[in-house]
Amino acid sequence: MDYFPLFMNIRDLPVLLVGAGRVAERKARLLLAAGGEVRVVARSLNGQFRHWQENGDVRWLAAEWSDGLLDDARLVIAATADTELNRRVYDAAESAGVPVNVVDDKALCRFITPAMIDRSPVQVAIATGGSSPVLARRIRGWIERLLPLGLGRVALAAGRARERVKQVLPPERRRGFWEGVLTEQHIRRLSLQSDHEIDGQIGRRLDAAAGDDSTANGRVSLVGAGPGRADLLTLRALHVLGQADVVLHDRLVSDEVLDLARRDADRIDVGKRAGNHHRTQEQIHELMVSEARKGRHVVRLKGGDPFIFGRGGEELEFLRDHGIAYEVVPGITAAAGCAAYSGIPLTHRKHAQSLSFVTGHLADALAESDGSGIDWGHLAGPGRTAVVYMGVRQAAALRDRLLGAGIDPALPVALVISGTSDRQQVFHGVVDELPRLASRAPRGEPGLLIIGQVASLGSTLGWLQVPAELQSAA
Ligand SMILES: C[S@@+](CC[C@H](N)C(=O)[O-])C[C@H]1O[C@@H](n2cnc3c(N)ncnc32)[C@H](O)[C@@H]1O
Repeated sequence: MDYFPLFMNIRDLPVLLVGAGRVAERKARLLLAAGGEVRVVARSLNGQFRHWQENGDVRWLAAEWSDGLLDDARLVIAATADTELNRRVYDAAESAGVPVNVVDDKALCRFITPAMIDRSPVQVAIATGGSSPVLARRIRGWIERLLPLGLGRVALAAGRARERVKQVLPPERRRGFWEGVLTEQHIRRLSLQSDHEIDGQIGRRLDAAAGDDSTANGRVSLVGAGPGRADLLTLRALHVLGQADVVLHDRLVSDEVLDLARRDADRIDVGKRAGNHHRTQEQIHELMVSEARKGRHVVRLKGGDPFIFGRGGEELEFLRDHGIAYEVVPGITAAAGCAAYSGIPLTHRKHAQSLSFVTGHLADALAESDGSGIDWGHLAGPGRTAVVYMGVRQAAALRDRLLGAGIDPALPVALVISGTSDRQQVFHGVVDELPRLASRAPRGEPGLLIIGQVASLGSTLGWLQVPAELQSAA
């Protein structure tokens, strides 16, 4: 970072402007808007400067520069076409320790002025470190379009309500209150209203919040963290993570994703097994409810999608039965992530018209014998793809079930380990080889089986660059 970002209060401070051309006029306008006491050094004053001088907005100090003019100035801007003069102004300001900016001469700038979006009191400053003012202006154009014109009035209303919020709500509930009021949708709506209406809306919400007990404000967001890569999170998941008071996450959620949670949110690994101890599903339920009842925003973060082999349904049932508000944020499930990153289209007009997600747990003999087994002959039959979650350790039983159901032993299979991550490995084979493929899977890494004609396409459509040390295994 080449520059320290800073907004300076120059109200009633003397600021010196050398030059009175067009550029100087733009700078003067900003200095005056910020309440600076503007003093000008220039050979002559044109129309706008003359008008300001007559109005008493600016003071014309002198026609020629001399170092003594610096006097008590707290900021100096030189905007003349005379490079020699600009250099003299710069040298004088530097030796007097007064911050100086020579317009369009980066080497002669102690400070630079950013491109601005002004929705006062909201100000957005964009700087390119003096490298490209045009680029800064282009970026300003993009951001301008995102910010409602009435944003400043919403900020002012929030400022007016702050004191009352402090009086009415205990500290632990204030942030949650503001997050509820200042959602993007609500800000856009408020920004179209009059000041009076905005005050009224915030006041009514505050009254409602004050009447509530803290249980009503606590809530749980059940969020899918996707298969591991942070850039595969949804925007909604990112937003919710940024609001969390506490994050309860599973073992498979990557650090890269966890790092996106609000910095001071508590993180609890509810999937961790220390020795023989890990939290049971019931304990996780209780923890979610007890944290939400403290008025906290709980983010229950799960690998993949919370509703696909994620016990998300059970968790919602428990929350509903205990009257806790919740939302669900979908995530990219392992099947979608692994398929994309290994170049295996799960459906394909020529090879597969239907797709099933199956748990490998039910491949074992016990499930088969008590009738709860899966109809493998159907799921992996012609024109179908079966994706098996949690199936690596059951690979031998799975092969037996598939062959027993009449599936072709030469039907293609792909095993994707740690799909989408930098450690991704893909092993290609056929149903008959399932136990051998599974034996190559490193312990502790998640693996997914894709069974069906489409599995063979990965050897030609795969696109991910596999790190050299993993290539021999793949
Ligand atoms: C309990 S399930 C959770 C599934 C998750 N809710 C989802 O939608 O992806 C865990 C299983 O998902 C699969 N899995 C999850 N992430 C994976 C990844 N990055 N690569 C391969 N398989 C993965 C593995 O089969 C793992 O045993």
